[in-house]
Amino acid sequence: MSSIYPSPEEFVRRANVSGMAAYEELYRRAAQDPEAFWGALAEKEVHWFEKFHTVLEWKAPFAKWFVGGKTNASYNCIDRHLETPRKNKVAILWEGEPGDQRAITYQELHRLVCRFANVLKSRGYKAGDRAIVYMPMVPELPIALLACARLGVTHSVVFGGFSAEALKARIQDLGATLVITADGGYRRGKEVRLKDAVDEALRECPDVSNVIVYQRTGSEVVMQADRDHWWHHLDEGASEDCPAEPLDSEHPLYVLYTSGTTGKPKGILHTTGGYVLYTTMTMKWVFDLKEEDTYWCSADIGWVTGHSYIVYGPLAAGATSVIYEGAPDYPAFDRWWRIVEKYRVNIFYTSPTAIRALIRQGDHWPAKHDLSSLRLLGSVGEPINPAAWEWYHRVIGGGRCPIVDTWWQTETGGILIAPLPGAIPQKPGSGTMPLPGVVPDIIDLAGNPVGRDKEGYLIIRKPWPSMIRTIWGDPERYKEQYWSKVPGVYFTGDAARCDSDGYYWVLGRVDDVMNVSGHRLSTMEVESALVRHPAVAEAAVVGKPHEITGQAVCCFVTLKKGDFSHETLGKELRQWVAHEIGAFARPEEIRFSDSLPKTRSGKIMRRLLREIVTSNSVSGDVTTLEDLSVITKLAAQQDDE
Ligand code: WT7
Repeated sequence: MSSIYPSPEEFVRRANVSGMAAYEELYRRAAQDPEAFWGALAEKEVHWFEKFHTVLEWKAPFAKWFVGGKTNASYNCIDRHLETPRKNKVAILWEGEPGDQRAITYQELHRLVCRFANVLKSRGYKAGDRAIVYMPMVPELPIALLACARLGVTHSVVFGGFSAEALKARIQDLGATLVITADGGYRRGKEVRLKDAVDEALRECPDVSNVIVYQRTGSEVVMQADRDHWWHHLDEGASEDCPAEPLDSEHPLYVLYTSGTTGKPKGILHTTGGYVLYTTMTMKWVFDLKEEDTYWCSADIGWVTGHSYIVYGPLAAGATSVIYEGAPDYPAFDRWWRIVEKYRVNIFYTSPTAIRALIRQGDHWPAKHDLSSLRLLGSVGEPINPAAWEWYHRVIGGGRCPIVDTWWQTETGGILIAPLPGAIPQKPGSGTMPLPGVVPDIIDLAGNPVGRDKEGYLIIRKPWPSMIRTIWGDPERYKEQYWSKVPGVYFTGDAARCDSDGYYWVLGRVDDVMNVSGHRLSTMEVESALVRHPAVAEAAVVGKPHEITGQAVCCFVTLKKGDFSHETLGKELRQWVAHEIGAFARPEEIRFSDSLPKTRSGKIMRRLLREIVTSNSVSGDVTTLEDLSVITKLAAQQDDE
């Protein structure tokens, strides 16, 4: 029996959706007539230059929402607030890692976004062009996104932790002609140099004709004449008048790359009208957003959480949103709690990995700070273990804050399963119930529902407004990956169980995708990076359970003939992966082996390797040479049957 935490009465009384009956009614209305439900919300919550004529055009698996409508995400996030008392409300409350601060009102945000949009316009960029954004967490990052969105330039943010190699692959796949970056950013007191990586990437990206560089650290960078321009030079004297383009509701707003089950990352496409509506609604439903709230999502804008719940959702909903540039442990482990106290944060949204890392440092860090402003807490990225949930609830939330455990994916664009905190009592470790309009189920591979209390594949039956539209440049892969495992339903790639109270428990991925610190990473991507190293013959990569990061990258490697020191090569290969993909992908463990376990048909048996790394307590050892051939032979017999 898991424990149940109902939200405090005071919270329920003031909640946007108050009480279980209110949730059930909302859910029932959405289920009964989804198009009427979403259509009415879209009219009320989104600004349209021209109204849509059809709510949903569903030619499975391709969806078009609010067809015929003309809108603009940047207008919805900024302009429409300017005619209201929000005009001088703080939109972005920013703190840099060194301690510098900025408070940007909606009016000021409008000025900054219009200026930068005019910069882009004057360099010839227009609707349909694509821009890569590779920046630290400074206000100019959301400003760049909103400026792109204002013109209809499709943006793709590449997380600053990705390497030049990864950046290059994304620029090429997207066919980007513009890169917006910075000299660098701050992380744990050190500079993360970004422009250098851009220079390296662009050696093989001839189509990029402009690089705009925001000056954050002031360190020396190479500027290539004609191609590279300082943001502050271009911005000087730019006009502050830049009307938002009326764009088709289905205009591509952004592409965000994420790992699939192959070595090649896939560009998830999100469009405009449905995305703006759904992120706005989930801000109100899940985060119970009130006009006076100070809201803080600690994610990086380089991941989907930052897109939906730092930039588009909070701004469209008119929130005051905190953005912090740096690391949670800099200069000490109470940096986050310092920020909560300083800005009187009311709603705080973070990941289980971060929570576990902070638990380890001890309760005295949060105890130094007055956290009484907090009224709601959130979690995202992976299942949260009940012990971490309970600590978060007790130590950070003072026992008075509901916790919204939000299940969603890059592909879903917004939260699909989470408690509405004024309505649904929480069970630690469960995302609880689907949001209005979301119809999940748990099925077996034949497509049959498995029923209550049984494990199976989590699927979604009906389209929702912020769903993925396609994989950039590869509609076939989109169909195949998400809609063909069981025809006609959206396949999430997660295993889950629904308990007898109708609560969903997401158990983890069923495919070859790892979840490291809440970041998705494909085993194949790491494997392809490894085999590009001249000493490596073959590699197999699996996720290994890890106390803090959820999973850690564990690699089994067979070498080409030669005289290698395992110790040196182990270090080199870890560095190699960091260089090929990014520092966050650096393997925890490299194990050398004479052979890899394979089925008789030649497929690497990752399942077996997962068992080995899960049960084996030897860790961090890069020098052992394993002979896996015995277990291989035994297991291969079973596996081919
Ligand atoms: C995968 C999606 C959604 C933004 C961050 C990650 C796992 C995410 C939860 C949760 C259990 C979760 C799933 C999902 N996941 N949130 N609350 N409980 N699992 O986005 O990189 O697209 O990864 O993260 O396995 O499929 P992503």
